[in-house]
Amino acid sequence: MEMSREKVAVVTGANKGLGYEIVKALCRKTTASYLTARNEEKGRRRSRTARTRPQAEIPSAGHPPKVYQTDQTLIVNFFSLVDFCETISPLMRNGGCIVNVSSSSGHLSRIPSQRLRERLKDENLSLDELKVLMQGYLLAVKHSRDVEDGWGESPYVVSKVGVNAYTFILHRRLAPRDIRVNCVHPGYIRTDMTKGEGNVLPEQGADVVVQVALSDSRGQYVWHNGTPVPWCGDDPRIWIDGKV
Ligand SMILES: NC(=O)c1ccc[n+]([C@@H]2O[C@H](COP(=O)([O-])OP(=O)(O)OC[C@H]3O[C@@H](n4cnc5c(N)ncnc54)[C@H](OP(=O)(O)O)[C@@H]3O)[C@@H](O)[C@H]2O)c1
Repeated sequence: MEMSREKVAVVTGANKGLGYEIVKALCRKTTASYLTARNEEKGRRRSRTARTRPQAEIPSAGHPPKVYQTDQTLIVNFFSLVDFCETISPLMRNGGCIVNVSSSSGHLSRIPSQRLRERLKDENLSLDELKVLMQGYLLAVKHSRDVEDGWGESPYVVSKVGVNAYTFILHRRLAPRDIRVNCVHPGYIRTDMTKGEGNVLPEQGADVVVQVALSDSRGQYVWHNGTPVPWCGDDPRIWIDGKV
């Protein structure tokens, strides 16, 4: 039987911002693109303009102080992303592709402790061990030990470093099925997350994510200008963006 050449895409967090622009761009390049949103009504409304199919509802979160903020950041950015990839990857066709939206904050150099950096970049690190590390970080925050333990100040940084570490674990695991797994820093984009600041429009930020999704890249961390960067090397904000 001839293999289907249909391309089907699923984009999470797609009712606005970067996700919405990614799903719009993919609508032009795939047979079917699924827009997912935690709020079903918002998702339905946006899917009408993006020409996609509305999909799942994802539970919502709240606001307050550092422990709660850290829990939420890790749950949404890291643990939920892992759960989603772990659920969907067995259903994917061989030869498919996963692109995790990371950030410049996901670069390994953002973690001050060399011991932690060595652990995170270890090619033998398993997903269970990575989860234990992330749980350890949550505990460190609860005991106000996060900075002392070498994690740095930012839960967002730790969550995105976790996303990158997971991307490389998943890449190694899915390579035998020819599933390409990459992560992308999409740039500083004008969305609600940046309160409308940023130097690129969401559709420009979406370009690099879609390019990576449709390319042959595998196991790469791709910067907003399309350059694959070493995760463990010098901070690309300095050598690409010219910032300190
Ligand atoms: N903007 C940037 O400069 C920038 C730079 C680097 C990386 N990124 C990454 O790009 C991704 C998209 O960011 P964005 O700038 O497009 O942000 P955005 O415009 O605020 O959109 C965020 C999306 O995520 C959903 N979301 C937020 N909190 C959630 C939660 N607790 N549970 C489930 N869904 C939730 C939102 O749904 P609701 O509409 O229901 O809130 C929305 O669909 C994020 O992973 C971000 O870290 C952004």
